Amino acid sequence: MRLFAALVPPSEALEHLDEFLDVRRDAGELRWVQADQVHVTLAFLGEVRDAKVDDLVERLARAAARRTSFETAISGGGAFPNVARAKVLWAGLDLDEPGRTELERLATGCRAAANRAGITVDGARFRPHLTVGRTKHPHDVSNWVRLLDSYAGPRWQATELTLVQSFLGEGPRGRPRHVPLDTFAMTGG
Ligand code: 2AM
Repeated sequence: MRLFAALVPPSEALEHLDEFLDVRRDAGELRWVQADQVHVTLAFLGEVRDAKVDDLVERLARAAARRTSFETAISGGGAFPNVARAKVLWAGLDLDEPGRTELERLATGCRAAANRAGITVDGARFRPHLTVGRTKHPHDVSNWVRLLDSYAGPRWQATELTLVQSFLGEGPRGRPRHVPLDTFAMTGG
């Protein structure tokens, strides 16, 4: 099954961002991610054999328990690979220094957990972001990044990590459908 580990903001935070973007969205320019599918990917695991899932789940539970819950908010934004020829438009997270450290260690812990369960993890450096849109053709999204830079969402407590299953092509208009499989509490969460 196709899996990834994610930090999933509460629905109030996702709806707040969705309403902020909604009044400014126009059709065609970007393929928007449905609000209830927006998340921070901590580790992309790809195709995982069923036989490895129990071990992975145990190790992810331990990785989450080693981290302390932290407060954050969706805030700001950017684009990959760059604003001028963007493929991905993303919203950021507002974090204080301890929160940033916990999030980075949570991502590192997820990747280590997966490696120990025999799963090869996408090696790209962890850059915390919530993908909100993808472009059909790379183009300048500086107007959207400026808009996201003016956004500061409600604050929430990150208390758990979520293991998500992705079903390719099963969402609306052929997009992936993401289904939470399990959640693992952080300490103090
Ligand atoms: P994203 O975090 O930038 O949106 C499920 O596909 C999630 O895993 C997506 O949110 C996606 O990007 C992230 N992801 C990271 N590496 C990936 C890869 N190599 N292939 C597909 N998705 C990947």
